[in-house]
Amino acid sequence: MIRGRGTIRIEVLNDASRSSAEMARDVRAGLLSVPKDLSPWPKYFYDERGSELFEEITALPEYYQARAELSILRETADEIVERAQCRELIELGSGSASKTCALLDTMRKTGDRSGYAIRYVPVDVSESVLRESAERLLEEYPGLEISGFVGDFDRSLGRLLGGPGDGGRLVIFLGGTFGNFTPQRRRSFLGELRAGLREGDHLLLGVDLVKDARTLVAAYDDGAGVTARFNKNLLEVLNERLGGEFCPDLFVHRVVYNLRERRIEMWLFSEVEQTVEIAGLELEASFRAGEGMRTEISAKFTHEGVDRMFDEAGLTLLDWRTDGLGLYGLALGGPRKVK
Ligand code: AVJ
Repeated sequence: MIRGRGTIRIEVLNDASRSSAEMARDVRAGLLSVPKDLSPWPKYFYDERGSELFEEITALPEYYQARAELSILRETADEIVERAQCRELIELGSGSASKTCALLDTMRKTGDRSGYAIRYVPVDVSESVLRESAERLLEEYPGLEISGFVGDFDRSLGRLLGGPGDGGRLVIFLGGTFGNFTPQRRRSFLGELRAGLREGDHLLLGVDLVKDARTLVAAYDDGAGVTARFNKNLLEVLNERLGGEFCPDLFVHRVVYNLRERRIEMWLFSEVEQTVEIAGLELEASFRAGEGMRTEISAKFTHEGVDRMFDEAGLTLLDWRTDGLGLYGLALGGPRKVK
């Protein structure tokens, strides 16, 4: 069978100048809140170094999430693609697209059999990562149409999902990134997504599950200290992008499991009393000795919780899969039919 040549098109979703003004605003708000709290903006962790460190985290013995998710995906990709009748895969926060192949393999088989081309729409903040993974995927899947977007999908879901289409789109949001959102942001995210989905479209969401606190804390406070470096790298990002003068060595990495909120929290505690100048914000941030700043939340979920959350957003939970150990969950949802 003759298949068309694949293509790569990459478009910028939101431009850099807007994003530095936005970052200044976010960080200012975070440093002025009590306690200091940068966790509402998890995206700032992922500069080049931060992305490398996160890749390292996914290989740690304590960090089960990436492996668990991949094992579920491998196990269920065929059924998911079949059930979603998926021709177009839209990946939010695609990164190196390492897990995407499990789905693309099945999509290709089905596409070849039925004689249609398949499309991949990765969205990521890093243009270089996007280009590299697009080129790699095109080698692997010569007929693939790749239409990537550089930027964060914060307020762009409408635009991303607004194009023409008649169903067959599967939006995937993997890696547990959804858990980094505040509860309010989770609701608005699902709401916006629901508004952009048409009948026949689907969402595949990866979530880490509630489990004993020891296992959870260990996953974010690994013996090799990689997560501590990842956490402190956020200070380097502030130094780099906002002219800050943080000394990462004067802070310690701490992890707590907040039982009531069912979430992991990463904090940085100042070991000394200090004042840190941030030139780009024209702000001096003072820390008492032992004062903490929250840097990340990572919410943990249950089957029932996801069901309820989908329901509130106007989505129907169509399928729920976990790994053999029940560590991690994949939820397949579709827009609830309006009567
Ligand atoms: C990228 C959202 C999956 O919350 O587990 C890993 C990031 N932070 N270790 C998570 C992270 C510290 C992470 N996700």
